[in-house]
Amino acid sequence: MVQGSFDRAIQGVDGVFHTASPAHLIDPCIKGTLNVLGSCTKASSVRRVVLTSSCSSIRCRDDVQRVSPLNESHWSDLEHCKRNNLWYAYAKTVAEKEAWKIAEESGIDLVVVNPAFVVGPLLAPQPTSSLRLILTIVKGLRGEYPNTTLGFVHIDDVIAAHILAMEESKASGRLICSSTVAHWSEIIEMLRAKYPSYPFEDRCGSQKGQDNPHSMNSNKIIQLGLSPLKPLDEMFDDCIKSFQDKGFL
Ligand SMILES: NC(=O)c1ccc[n+]([C@@H]2O[C@H](COP(=O)([O-])OP(=O)(O)OC[C@H]3O[C@@H](n4cnc5c(N)ncnc54)[C@H](OP(=O)(O)O)[C@@H]3O)[C@@H](O)[C@H]2O)c1
Repeated sequence: MVQGSFDRAIQGVDGVFHTASPAHLIDPCIKGTLNVLGSCTKASSVRRVVLTSSCSSIRCRDDVQRVSPLNESHWSDLEHCKRNNLWYAYAKTVAEKEAWKIAEESGIDLVVVNPAFVVGPLLAPQPTSSLRLILTIVKGLRGEYPNTTLGFVHIDDVIAAHILAMEESKASGRLICSSTVAHWSEIIEMLRAKYPSYPFEDRCGSQKGQDNPHSMNSNKIIQLGLSPLKPLDEMFDDCIKSFQDKGFL
């Protein structure tokens, strides 16, 4: 959060991945991005910066269904985010727009990965924010599941996408990384059939603004060389197995 605090870490570095972002705080998400990009502009060694944005900076808009399939030219509408209290989407959209502004002004070679909701095995000892959400839905600890239709993607594909974004000289602009789009009710139906012993949430939340059907176009990153994206059943099977292996389920 302190301006210049990444200067020393970035000096002499060829490539920077900026992935850190708090899940529900606007200021640290935007300021963190500005700080890292600011330090990158000072370090003459940096050849490319890869920023982890999100499909949340693409799909949150009133007309999502009409303009589908969504591609890299689409942006979430900040007024739509404010009206529906979609503050994560708001922060990710503003942060990504600011990053593009800095890149344009400073000439940084910025490539942005826009992952859908990330699913798969735990890589760290504690679940990420998205895996915590899945865990509470499977265990029935939330009281409801989100009234959201969104894309899902396997963590392996997100990692491969970041490496491609950094290493492939032809990579540029934004890169959507999203497998199937589904409503949470469909995910729960799929999981309940396979794992009937878990309680699962059965009440849908009432929040509006993210429930419209839509589709995401990941052709750009596939054409760049990413293998076909793993399907829903594989990413959720890997996730549940990992929860079981690590004692979370
Ligand atoms: N998970 C998804 O479904 C998903 C989907 C699309 C995009 N993304 C994006 O992918 C990135 C990683 O997401 P994630 O799910 O792994 O998130 P996460 O589980 O919430 O972890 C966020 C990470 O960022 C770090 N962080 C947050 N604020 C920071 C700050 N001010 N300074 C330094 N580190 C900070 C956190 O460090 P601490 O552990 O120390 O708090 C944590 O390691 C984020 O940019 C997120 O927006 C995630």
